[in-house]
Amino acid sequence: MALRTRGLTKRYGQRLAVADLNLEVRRGEIFGFLGPNGAGKTTTIRMLLGLITPTAGSIEILGQDLRRQPKLVLPRVGALIETPALYLYLSARDNLRVVARSLGGISERRIDEILELVGLSSRQKDRVKTYSLGMKQRLGLALALLHDPELLILDEPANGLDPAGIVEMRDLLHQLVAQGKTIFVSSHLLSEVQQICTRVAIIRLGRLVTEASVEELTRGRGEFVVRVEHPQEALRLVRAQSWGTTARLTERGELITPAPDGRGRELNRYLVEAGLIPDSLAPVTLDLEQVFLQLTGDDVAMGGKV
Ligand SMILES: Nc1ncnc2c1ncn2[C@@H]1O[C@H](COP(=O)(O)OP(=O)(O)OP(=O)(O)O)[C@@H](O)[C@H]1O
Ligand SMILES: [Mg+2]
Repeated sequence: MALRTRGLTKRYGQRLAVADLNLEVRRGEIFGFLGPNGAGKTTTIRMLLGLITPTAGSIEILGQDLRRQPKLVLPRVGALIETPALYLYLSARDNLRVVARSLGGISERRIDEILELVGLSSRQKDRVKTYSLGMKQRLGLALALLHDPELLILDEPANGLDPAGIVEMRDLLHQLVAQGKTIFVSSHLLSEVQQICTRVAIIRLGRLVTEASVEELTRGRGEFVVRVEHPQEALRLVRAQSWGTTARLTERGELITPAPDGRGRELNRYLVEAGLIPDSLAPVTLDLEQVFLQLTGDDVAMGGKV
């Protein structure tokens, strides 16, 4: 296990910023930590990095207790919280050199390697103040990677980035996981998390709402969306079947229906045998956005999405 919290709690006066949080992040995965503004993401991350002390609960990182072994644990972790602290009048390379010197034992070759990885090699001599937000964010990540940490804890790394910057960040995170790193990444950009994470925890008002695989969350209820030439007729037929009583039509005239034995091919066979050949037939999957809104209690109807 790369990261495990038990009953993690942080109280600010009367306000419970994080309440009884149990998280488990496996080695080698990209784990998404999702929640609306004020949910407690940054507070949790600050506790994970030993920057603030929990009111209660425990944190285990890479198999070690953080409170008991901070000096063993923290050098194995890399972090990016909010906007990284950068020397704007220095180049990217010099920013890395400053941190390398304070860490000790980091070669110029390692700096080359990191600059290459985050895609800043060609701009490494320019002052950081001339950089775009995306470049600064990637430099922040470079600083966090310098000492080759096993676990990366990133607080909203895509925050403020434009679509191209988000794609670059996503590619970079994929590359890091391919190298065997574990990534814990917070976000409120749900579509983004859906694309990069294998599992997510959703928090709201400091409390865990759910922890599940993205696949589980978005799987839907085993229904299928069918496009067919005569949807009304298909609906009537399907409704008359024991497995199809909950079938319905969308506003766009698509048939949403369960399948015999839950199997798409059986649904297909049924429709074809009834003389209604589907133009298309696919499982209904939910957008993480819809799941999130539903789980966090916002009163938004959950619809199917293909
Ligand atoms: N130092 C502090 N003193 C008092 N309250 C705090 C402090 N830090 C955070 N809080 C409160 O704790 C709650 C959680 O805040 P936190 O910053 O962890 O949320 P977040 O999920 O990171 O939100 P965002 O998406 O806006 O970054 C909020 O209600 C916040 O006001
Ligand atoms: Mg935050």
